[in-house]
Amino acid sequence: MPRKVIQWATGSVGRAAIECIQNHPDLQLVGCWVHSPDKDGRDVGEILGTAPIGVTATSKMEEILDTPADAVLYAPLLPQPREVEALLRSGKNVVTPVGWFFPEGKNTADLEAACRIGGVSLHGTGIDPGGATEIFPLVLSSMTSSVTFVRAEEFSDIRSYGAPDVVRHIMMFGAPPEQAAAGPMLGLLDGGFRQSVRMILDTLGFDDSPEIRTSHAAAVATAPIDSPIGMIEPGLVAAQRFHWEAVVDGNVVVRIGVNWLMGSENLEPAWSFGPEGQRYEIEVHGDPDANVTIHGWHAVNFADGLLRNPGIVATAAHCVNSIPYVCDAAPGIRTAVELPLVAGRAHPKLLG
Ligand SMILES: NC(=O)c1ccc[n+]([C@@H]2O[C@H](COP(=O)([O-])OP(=O)(O)OC[C@H]3O[C@@H](n4cnc5c(N)ncnc54)[C@H](OP(=O)(O)O)[C@@H]3O)[C@@H](O)[C@H]2O)c1
Repeated sequence: MPRKVIQWATGSVGRAAIECIQNHPDLQLVGCWVHSPDKDGRDVGEILGTAPIGVTATSKMEEILDTPADAVLYAPLLPQPREVEALLRSGKNVVTPVGWFFPEGKNTADLEAACRIGGVSLHGTGIDPGGATEIFPLVLSSMTSSVTFVRAEEFSDIRSYGAPDVVRHIMMFGAPPEQAAAGPMLGLLDGGFRQSVRMILDTLGFDDSPEIRTSHAAAVATAPIDSPIGMIEPGLVAAQRFHWEAVVDGNVVVRIGVNWLMGSENLEPAWSFGPEGQRYEIEVHGDPDANVTIHGWHAVNFADGLLRNPGIVATAAHCVNSIPYVCDAAPGIRTAVELPLVAGRAHPKLLG
């Protein structure tokens, strides 16, 4: 019998997740929560722009709680711990890209209790885009003895990120550098990337009380740069780098970062993607070293990325593929380190 799944929210991640659920041989979509009033009561296929699929979206929490299901893929804009608790208490496993992938002990007691009451698990798939800065480095580390350093970084053209309000008002692109430096982005990212750093430190057994330091740097436009948030005039922020470093005995042992550029021309400093282009880089130093560059999670051009961003599809696929393993896990908050290897499934036309 396929596992019954409810999709929570139909934004970019949610819509991609519904497609992935429909293509997964062991999963069946049985419900869908929406925030937008104009989507309430509509067939989910219509919301996706396809033929009706016989699942009606609702914005009523009670209807979701009353729908028998094995799991909820929770992907709202703003996560609400109380909603997650209610879903868990109703006996539904929750898989999500919005956090809780390596939570600190504090603030999770209510969620742990809800898991026990419902006999289910909560699993956060990670950040950026769900794995590159914690799960993948840990997988690579299994081929290395005596690890001394781990690095994972994203290099992306931020012009393909289809959330202009976030890019302008939260990421602070197009603002004067001093405003961007005082903006909310470092604090917002910190809750996620600090979990990545701690997950690597804890799993590899590094000193458990390292200094974790953060840094932010910006490059400004030297000529007008056309972007989805409008023209970025000279002197305003057109590229940013955020980094987290864990320091043990004066040595950096973990370095996690994002490098977001509005293209790679007319920037000061003259940052660029280099010959490798947009990518994720993962590096593990030890005996032996390992270096991996991931391509494919970025759009070929930023117009395509605005329509359907591969990084978002990867985020959704990781959540969907995790569902059967999370359903089989012992109740509680379960990190990727505690689950078996999560794998995808063959294309529906190639299934045996
Ligand atoms: N881990 C990762 O690598 C990763 C990657 C990408 C995104 N994310 C996270 O995943 C979540 C979804 O991302 P997304 O790209 O799908 O975002 P999105 O396209 O902006 O969609 C979010 C959806 O949330 C619902 N929503 C809107 N306003 C809301 C509110 N005030 N309260 C609750 N729900 C609201 C809407 O659902 P309806 O349209 O159904 O009404 C909206 O479409 C975000 O929290 C994002 O930060 C994580």
